[in-house]
Amino acid sequence: MNHFEYRNGEMFAEGVPVKRIAKEVGTPAYVYSLATLKRHFQVFDRAFSAVPHIVCFSVKANSNIALLRAFAKEGGGFDIVSGGELFRALRAGADPKKIVFSGVGKKKDEIEYALKSGILMFNVESEDEMVTLNEIAGGIGKKAPISLRINPDVDPQTHPYISTGMKKAKFGVDIKRSLENYKKAVSMPNLEVVGVDCHIGSQLTSLSPFVDALARVREYLDRVLVGSLKREGVKIRYLDLGGGLGISYKDEMPPHPEEYARAIIQGLEGLDVTLILEPGRVIVGNAGILITEVQYIKETDEKKFVIVDGGMNDLIRPALYGSYQAIQPVVEKNSEKIVADVVGPICESGDFFAKDREIARPRRGDLLAVMSAGAYGFTMASNYNSHPKPPEVLVDGDQYYVIRTRETMDDLIRGETIPAALE
Ligand code: LLP
Repeated sequence: MNHFEYRNGEMFAEGVPVKRIAKEVGTPAYVYSLATLKRHFQVFDRAFSAVPHIVCFSVKANSNIALLRAFAKEGGGFDIVSGGELFRALRAGADPKKIVFSGVGKKKDEIEYALKSGILMFNVESEDEMVTLNEIAGGIGKKAPISLRINPDVDPQTHPYISTGMKKAKFGVDIKRSLENYKKAVSMPNLEVVGVDCHIGSQLTSLSPFVDALARVREYLDRVLVGSLKREGVKIRYLDLGGGLGISYKDEMPPHPEEYARAIIQGLEGLDVTLILEPGRVIVGNAGILITEVQYIKETDEKKFVIVDGGMNDLIRPALYGSYQAIQPVVEKNSEKIVADVVGPICESGDFFAKDREIARPRRGDLLAVMSAGAYGFTMASNYNSHPKPPEVLVDGDQYYVIRTRETMDDLIRGETIPAALE
C-alpha cells in the first residue's frame, strides 16, 4: 500500500498534488511519502513482535538523513556497509547499539570509526577481516563484537547482480568452513563472538529461499556451532537474516511481511536469540517516485521515443538490471496509447527507463512519474554527463519538505582545481 493516488485524474503524494511539487522544485525530482515509509516500517516491525528482534533498515536502499531519522524515531536500527553510511545514521540520531556493519571490504578507518562509535556488531565476511578487526580493536583497547556472515549456498532466484548467497558469490564464508572460522575468532583476544549472519540476495519474491537459508544456518547452529562454541564459553546471541524481501514493481506477488515473519519465526523455534533483520527495498521501494518532464517526442520509422529530463544518472535500475519501473502520467489527459521507449538525455543507448512500453501518449512538457523509485534510486544516482543530482522531497500529509536540494553547477566541480602549471 502506498500514498500515491489519483484524485480527479491528478496524481497526489498524500495530500499534495505532484504537479505542484514539480512546479516548485523543478524536475527531475524524487518524492517520498512519509506516511508510506512509516507504515511499511511499522507493518514489518509488528510482524516480528512475537520474538525479540531489531529491524535494521538497510541504509544503502535510501540514505537520506530525514528518512533515517524517521526510522530511528520508529525504534529502528540500521544496517550499514561503509563509514559514510555510519556517519549518516549517526547524524540522523541512530542508536549505535542498533547498528550492524556488513560488507566484504571494510577499510581500517571505517572499522575504527565503527568501533569507537560502539556499534552492535560487525558482520565479518573473511578471516583476513577478523585479523584486521582484532588488530584495530586491540590498538584502541576495545573488544569488537562480531558475527560471521555465512554463505548458505542457496539460490535466491533473483537477478544475478543481486544474488549474494550462492557458493560462487564474494559474500560471506563457506558454511562448511565456518566452525573453523569461528574457532579462529574465539582465539583472538580482541574479538567477541556474538552472532551469526546471512543475506542471500535482494528482490526475492518467494519465501522458499529464505526458509531454506534459515534452515541451513539453523541446522549448522544446532548440530555444530552451539555445542562447539559453548565449550569455548561463547553464546550466539544474535541471528541476523539480512534483507531481501521483494516488492511489486509490475505484477510480482511477493509474500506479505506477515507471511515472511511467520515462516521465519517458525524456523527459529526453540532458539534463544535476538533476531536481526535488514530490510531495505520493502520499506522504501514503493514509498518513492521520480518525477520527470517530457522534453521531446521523436518518431522514427522503427520506433517512438519519449525523451525525458531524468536519466540513468538519476535512476540506474532499468539500465543496470533491465528492471521494470512503472511509468504513469502525473496528470491523466488522454486515453490514446502509444508504444514507446522512455529515454533520458544521457549519451548511452543504455539510458532508458522503459523499452517498448505502452503508455498514454504524452506531449512536450507533460510530467511522468517513474514509480517504485524509493529504493536504490537516489543512492545509486551519479553526475554522469555532468547533470546535477536531483532534489529529494518528503511529503507529510498536505505539507512537503525539500530534504535535499538540487545540486548546483558549483557542486559539480566541488573539489576540482586547475593546477598552477596549466594557468
Ligand atoms: N543486507 C545486506 C547485507 C545487503 O547486501 C542488502 C542489499 C540488504 C541487507 C538489503 O536488501 P533489500 O531488503 O533492499 O533487498 N541495487 C540493487 C539492489 C542491491 C542490493 C544489495 N544488498 C537494486 O536496485 O535492485
